[in-house]
Amino acid sequence: MEIITGISSLRSRLRHESSIAFVPTMGGLHEGHLSLIRIAQQEADCVVASIFVNRLQFAPAEDFDQYPRTLADDCELLKAQGTHVLFAPGEKSLYPVRQEFMLEPPPIANTLEGEFRPGFFRGVATIVLKLFNIVQPHVAVFGKKDYQQLHIMRELVRQFNVPLEIIGGETVRASDNLALSSRNRYLSNEERVEALRLYRVLSQIKWEIENGNRNFRGLRQNAKEDLDAHGWKTDYIAVRQRDTLNPAREDDGDMVVLGAARLGKTRLIDNLEISV
Ligand code: PAJ
Repeated sequence: MEIITGISSLRSRLRHESSIAFVPTMGGLHEGHLSLIRIAQQEADCVVASIFVNRLQFAPAEDFDQYPRTLADDCELLKAQGTHVLFAPGEKSLYPVRQEFMLEPPPIANTLEGEFRPGFFRGVATIVLKLFNIVQPHVAVFGKKDYQQLHIMRELVRQFNVPLEIIGGETVRASDNLALSSRNRYLSNEERVEALRLYRVLSQIKWEIENGNRNFRGLRQNAKEDLDAHGWKTDYIAVRQRDTLNPAREDDGDMVVLGAARLGKTRLIDNLEISV
């Protein structure tokens, strides 16, 4: 695996590749990220991963400084998985001048994650468009773990005619079903056990809806009460249409239930697709 930090070296390395599949990450890699690399390998001859903790998508009070930076371990994992090129730029490479041009995402980006993390998707869309322009992949792979992010990436590519295909990878979970996340390493042992409750309340909603319950408001309320009664601070529990992410209606078929809640200092998100 080649590790490249400069934009022009990356461009010359990739110039003659006939097909490139790209997996952007912020590092702190786990099996969820590696599953995206494996998908990428099926899509192109050359697999490029990036690691860059993107300051633009963190609010001032968020965990930019604490975000796990585990480059040596990440390199081992990517290499063992058969990644061809790792792009690991410094901030000066990607933001040589203050990034004043920003991508304004569609209104759906102001709901769910965007409601609780204002500016988050502006920051994500802006860095991802820059990375797409640098790597110029044919395919880019994003995880369903960040369901709204995947949706917004599809819209970005569609609405800006970016010539690449976006592929979504299934959420990888620990053996007890907790969705893998770089942020799980912030959890204490006790919190790690409690963390499963978010998955459980989402599963309960999925089960109820798949068995005919359409009282979305009641289901969301019960989930929130369960979380809050166990020390969580719930940001949202929402039932949405899968293809638009607009609020689900009673007669919708393909839906997704999404949740975000804080346990101690750690903010966790998860979601489950619902098919009726
Ligand atoms: P990061 O949180 O590092 O995630 C990188 C990719 O891994 C994303 O597409 C995310 O959805 C996926 N991922 C994370 N956990 C996963 C899991 N348990 N199963 C499957 N896929 C999983 O998302 C970002 O970085 C950033 O916002 C980024 C797109 C890199 C822009 O800075």
